[in-house]
Amino acid sequence: MTDDVGTSASISIGDRTLDLEVLSASLGSDALDISKLRASLNTVTYDPGFANTASTRSSITYIDGGEGTLRHRGYAIDDLAEKCTFLEVAYLLLYGELPNREQLDEWTTSVRHHTLLSEEMKRFFDAFPRSAHPMAILSSATNAISTFYEAYYDPKSSDAFHESAVRLIAKMPTIAAWAYKKSISQPYMYPRNDLTYIENFLHMMFGMPVEETKVDPVIARALNVLLILHADHGQNCSTATVRFVGSSDANLFASVAAGMNALWGPLHGGANQAVVEMLSAIHDDPTMTVERAVTRAKDGDDPFRLMGFGHRVYKNYDPRARILKKFADDVLSRVGLDDPLLEIANQLEMAAREDDYFVSRNLYPNVDFYSGIIFRALGFPTRMFTVLFAMGRLPGWIANWKEMHDDPATRIARPRQVYEGTVMRDYVPITER
Ligand code: ACO
Repeated sequence: MTDDVGTSASISIGDRTLDLEVLSASLGSDALDISKLRASLNTVTYDPGFANTASTRSSITYIDGGEGTLRHRGYAIDDLAEKCTFLEVAYLLLYGELPNREQLDEWTTSVRHHTLLSEEMKRFFDAFPRSAHPMAILSSATNAISTFYEAYYDPKSSDAFHESAVRLIAKMPTIAAWAYKKSISQPYMYPRNDLTYIENFLHMMFGMPVEETKVDPVIARALNVLLILHADHGQNCSTATVRFVGSSDANLFASVAAGMNALWGPLHGGANQAVVEMLSAIHDDPTMTVERAVTRAKDGDDPFRLMGFGHRVYKNYDPRARILKKFADDVLSRVGLDDPLLEIANQLEMAAREDDYFVSRNLYPNVDFYSGIIFRALGFPTRMFTVLFAMGRLPGWIANWKEMHDDPATRIARPRQVYEGTVMRDYVPITER
């Protein structure tokens, strides 16, 4: 974060002028500080979708959408994905530095010792219909576990923050796996402290109480990379939601649960499920070829879009998609799967990249385009894909919640609006309407 004030700017409305400070970013776009605009000129800015608005200063994640660059705390995503464990990256996001050996051991041990859910939570899971979408269970259960941790609600306490963060990260795989077990009527599996974070999750997802779980190291390694690639992504819809909810001093559990609901939509984290559904439709429906999908996506009157293409920020190849594209071939061959959806995905990408509509609009594959195919190859059902995204994004949400509370300028998020409704009218009794 920098306090440097760069070149100055001013804005004039009629005969009134306000000098504006330009906040220098350490990388990327500088920002006009308009915080005095309304008070001085009785005017607000109009920026639907906040596409030009920095809602905060942040030191967590840097994205250059034009170049296709993604860094966490200054480290390139490629390095982190190749060399770290997910818990190391979580520590980096939360505390700003990669942990040394001692810090990592302490961090991993605390996470490992909080993986159990309270026994009462079993009844909570039981209450959902078998058909419940696991994202609905995930966000509800995340909110529900806050009822056990009222002692950690104080947003100003660093101890409370640490205890809540450890519990959320530790329990999320248990919640996610139980949401899945519920949907297939299998017994909930208890966590095992002798396993790594990823192995333990795979054990709870795919294990059975009647036999020892054998975790395939290829699958564990792949899932580690996938979770890292989802760990944070600046001020996206779900992270902005976590900050927004947290700005009222709502506790970390409640704020993260809100972020999960924002992530669920198919234009955000739900896109990974939508991509595989689209590829399956192309595979299964003889009238829905790759060419037809591309034609429909270009038709302005057709609501159909190429899922997994386009991004609010990236106008170049999403660096996470670049890593995953290479990774998809490797994972599929290692798990011995020949998935026809990967071939369709490759064809679709090639068709779109040669088509002027997609080229001129800078529509490249995003992280969700290949992640679903890999999740599928690892044995995850389609409806769990967004849950896996949420597990990966959790440290990013928590780090942003903390950064917001550490910023003395934080106050309740309260955007303005341009009111366009009726100015004033007299009340009309119901008999006269
Ligand atoms: N298929 C077809 N056309 C598209 C697509 C797509 N996937 N994405 C954008 N376009 C078109 C738009 O129709 C628009 O065309 P126009 O200029 O003729 O009106 C143009 O490209 C620009 O699109 P915008 O909607 O302005 O792009 P925006 O940046 O607002 O939207 C979004 C980004 C929502 C991600 C969009 O690209 C999309 O819906 N993609 C499919 C869903 C998806 O993959 N979501 C995951 C995003 S990654 C993530 O959240 C982790």
